[in-house]
Amino acid sequence: MTTRRIDLRSDTVTQPTDAMRQVMAGAPVGDDVMNEDPTVIELERYTAELMGKDAAVFVPSGTMANQAAVRSYAGPGDEILAVDQCHLFFYEAGSAAGLSGVQIFPVPAVQGIFKIEDFRDRIRPEDLHFPVTRLFWVENTHNRGGGRIVPFELMKQLKKLSDRTGIPIHVDGARLPNASAATGIPLPRWTALCDSLSICLSKGLGAPVGSLIVGSETFIHKCRRARKAFGGGMRQAGIIAAGGLYALKNNLQRLRDDHRRASRLAEGLKSIPGLHIPPDVDTNIVMIDLDDDTHFDVPSFQDLLQKQGVLMFAVGPRRLRAVTHLGIDDQDIAATISIFKTLLTRAA
Ligand SMILES: Cc1ncc(COP(=O)(O)O)c(C=O)c1O
Repeated sequence: MTTRRIDLRSDTVTQPTDAMRQVMAGAPVGDDVMNEDPTVIELERYTAELMGKDAAVFVPSGTMANQAAVRSYAGPGDEILAVDQCHLFFYEAGSAAGLSGVQIFPVPAVQGIFKIEDFRDRIRPEDLHFPVTRLFWVENTHNRGGGRIVPFELMKQLKKLSDRTGIPIHVDGARLPNASAATGIPLPRWTALCDSLSICLSKGLGAPVGSLIVGSETFIHKCRRARKAFGGGMRQAGIIAAGGLYALKNNLQRLRDDHRRASRLAEGLKSIPGLHIPPDVDTNIVMIDLDDDTHFDVPSFQDLLQKQGVLMFAVGPRRLRAVTHLGIDDQDIAATISIFKTLLTRAA
């Protein structure tokens, strides 16, 4: 058993550091619904510039970022083509339909990576029987796909299809900074391949709250309306925006450490009998499959891990997920591998 808790459930569990807390406590604030919060205004300006787009809007969560984007592109009876198993489709309580009356047509994908023909072939022709295809939706990196990076070349092809058809591209980029850190391709080169995107500050970047939607002035104006409609207009939000600004200024490069640790974890677990680790650990997420012939089911194994101080989420009937982040160090990775070894060897 480790003496400290190793929380690998998600990169959302990070705690703000002392330095971040200090910046937050001292942030100048105002009423952001009246557009008077200087720290929020600065975060939005800074993010738009970092991403190479015209404008950005600060929202409370990644889910609201997604829902405000959907509402701004589409309305009742419209359809968006979204990569299979994306967060928007899988984890948002059916809100594209519930809040905006929008239908999602899933595009087949393996770990978030699609074939361009599968987008192309799902675009609806003009016919009164069909919904209108309003948007292409991609998630990069792909959460349920194990943090896989959508290849840059594939995004270029999608952009070509978008230019040809006039259908815009939105990227759920909750972890796009991870894709940029892992590939070395600067953020603005990624964002040039989409019309709009979101990023989350409260995942690997380590801020306590908040996401941004980024795009053209006109689109962001629509998103501000949607944010208000969904109850996401915040007042003295500069306190939390300051944590986000700090995260963007200080925590982008260190994402590589999370990636290195995720690879190390995958490597260490791979050789343990009873486990299968899907290949291609591109960023900070490791999927761990329990073989059918191990004695454990996922909940009982999760339980045993927890008793040893290691927390992971179940994301499938035989699958656990581990996510590295700034609260996880090299020792935690070594301890986790050793705990897995002990538990599975004992059971063999
Ligand atoms: C890809 C992706 N998009 C959106 C979200 C939603 O973010 P939030 O939990 O802040 O609503 C998540 C959360 O894990 C995510 O992984």
